[in-house]
Amino acid sequence: MNEEQRKQQSQIKQVNPSGEKDNLDRLKQKTSDDFIKYFETTYEAPNLRKAQKRGKQEVKYHDDFAIDEQFQGLGVGKKYLIRTYGCQMNEHDTEVMSGIFEEMGYEPTTEAKEADVILLNTCAIRENAENKVFGEIGHLKPLKVENPDLIIGVCGCMSQEEAVVNRILEKHHQVDLIFGTHNIHRLPQLVHNAHLSKERVIEVWSKEGDVIENLPKRRAGNIKAWVNIMYGCDKFCTYCIVPYTRGKERSRRPEDIIQEVRHLAAQGYKEVTLLGQNVNAYGKDLDIEYGLGDLMDEIRKIDIPRVRFTTSHPRDFDDRLIEVLAKGGNLMPYIHLPVQSGNSQVLKLMGRKYTRERFLELVGKIKEAIPHASFSTDIIVGFPNETEEQFEDTLSLYDEVGFEGAYTFIFSPRDGTPAAKFDDKISMEEKKERLQRLNAKVNAYSAEAMKQYEGQIVNVLVEGESKNNPDVLAGYTEYSKLVNFRAPRSAIGKIVPVKVTEAKTWSLNGEMVEETAEVK
Ligand code: SAH
Ligand code: SF4
Ligand code: F3S
Repeated sequence: MNEEQRKQQSQIKQVNPSGEKDNLDRLKQKTSDDFIKYFETTYEAPNLRKAQKRGKQEVKYHDDFAIDEQFQGLGVGKKYLIRTYGCQMNEHDTEVMSGIFEEMGYEPTTEAKEADVILLNTCAIRENAENKVFGEIGHLKPLKVENPDLIIGVCGCMSQEEAVVNRILEKHHQVDLIFGTHNIHRLPQLVHNAHLSKERVIEVWSKEGDVIENLPKRRAGNIKAWVNIMYGCDKFCTYCIVPYTRGKERSRRPEDIIQEVRHLAAQGYKEVTLLGQNVNAYGKDLDIEYGLGDLMDEIRKIDIPRVRFTTSHPRDFDDRLIEVLAKGGNLMPYIHLPVQSGNSQVLKLMGRKYTRERFLELVGKIKEAIPHASFSTDIIVGFPNETEEQFEDTLSLYDEVGFEGAYTFIFSPRDGTPAAKFDDKISMEEKKERLQRLNAKVNAYSAEAMKQYEGQIVNVLVEGESKNNPDVLAGYTEYSKLVNFRAPRSAIGKIVPVKVTEAKTWSLNGEMVEETAEVK
C-alpha cells in the first residue's frame, strides 16, 4: 500500500463503542456524524474534471500477495455467499474474493440462511442495476435481525459512489461492511474487522489501487476462465460511470497474463476470455511498445482451444490486432464491438471519439481481413435529445453491419457524469417505444443468423447440462451460439461436432455427430 492509498483508506470506528450486541437502531443514530467525517477526509464523488486530470501516475505491481497469518483459519466452520451483479469484471472479482474466502477457511454456500458472510458485488452502470441491489439489501434485513452475527457486505461499483454509500449508511442498517473495487485484496482484514468489532467497516479508496498479482481465485468452472488483462477505463464516455468506479487504466504485465493463460491451459481449461473495460487500450500505460495485438499474437501460440476478449472500443481497434486476429487458430472470429449509436452527432455527444463512417470503415476492414468474422454490439437508445432521425441512423447502421446480437439499453443518467446534466426533452414513453423497435430488429437478425446453421455441423464446447433439462447438454459454438443437444455426459468439457436440427431466435438445437467434416 503506498502513502497516497494509506491516506485514502478509512474505516468507521467507534460506531458501537459500548461493544454490546449489535442493534440496528443504535447504528442508525451513530453513523451519520462518523460518516460525514469519513467522506470529508477520504472520499471524492465522481468528478469529471478531477478524474480526467488523473494523468499517468506510476502503477506499482505487487507479486507478494499473502493472507496474513492472523486471518488464516478465521473462516473455519463458517460459510460465505457472494451475489454478483454486472459485467464479467465483477464475475471475475467474485472469483478472486471467493478464492480469498476459501484460503481463510470459509466454505461456499448458496443458501443465504446458512451464510455467516453475505457479500453483494454490485454494478452501478444503470439505475435499474442499482435498484436490484437495494431490493436485495432489503430482503436480507430479516436474516440480520434473526442472526445479528451475520455479516452483510456491499462491494463492487456501487460502493464507489458517494450517494450510494450515504443511502446505505442512513437507511440500511443491516449492512456491516462496505468496500470498494480497489480494496478487494484487503478482504481478510476487512472481514476480520467486521466479525470482531461488530462495527460498521467501510473502506473505499477513491483512487485506484496498484496491480496486485497472485491473488487466489476460485474459478466458477473448469472449462472456461476469465483473465484480466487490464483494469479501469480512461475513455470517459459522457454517459458512463465506469471510469469513476474502476479508476484509471492499468495494464497487467504481458508475462503475468501469458503465465496465467499457460497455467489455465495446463489445468485443462478450454477457453479463456481476456477481460478489460477497454481492452484495445491494453499496453498504452506500459513503458514498452506493446498492445493487444502483440499480446494476442503470443496467446494464440498457447495450447488452449479458444481465446476471446472483451470489451473492445472501436476507437483503439488497430491494424495490428486485425492482422493477428486474421491468423485465426484459437482466436475466435466473433467480435463484440459496442457501437452505442449509429449517428455521428450523438456519438460526438457521447464522447465516443469516432463517427458512424469510421465505425463502418473499421467493420469493413475487419471483414476484409477475416471474411467469416461476425459481430455483436451494445446500443444505448434515448440518449438526451436523440431525435427520431438520429435513432433511425442506429437502425440503419444495424442493417449495414448485420450484427448477430446486441445488448440494448435505455439511457440512464448516472450521477457525476456529464450526460446526466444534459437537458432531455424525449419522454420515457418514446424511449421505450424505440427500444422495442430496436429489439425487434435485434431479434430478427439473431433469428436469421441462427437459421443459417440449420443442417450444418458446428463445433460446440460442452459446458454442462442444459438449464431446463438435465438430459440435454449445452455449450457454445465458436460464434458464441448456445446449442442444446443430446449426448453422453462424457462430452462435458470437450469440443464436439453437433449437427444443428432446429434454430430458435437465441439458441440452436442439435445432435452430436461423430465426424468433424464441414464444421462451421
Ligand atoms: N467498456 C465497455 C462496456 C461498458 S458497460 C464499452 O465501452 O463498450 C456496458 C454497456 O452498458 C455499454 O456498452 C453501454 O451500452 C451501456 N451503458 C453504459 N452506461 C450507460 C448508461 N448510463 N445508460 C445506459 N446504458 C449504459
Ligand atoms: Fe464506459 Fe466503456 Fe466508455 Fe469506458 S469505454 S467510459 S467503460 S462505455
Ligand atoms: Fe457494472 Fe462496474 Fe461492470 S458498473 S458493468 S460492474 S465495471
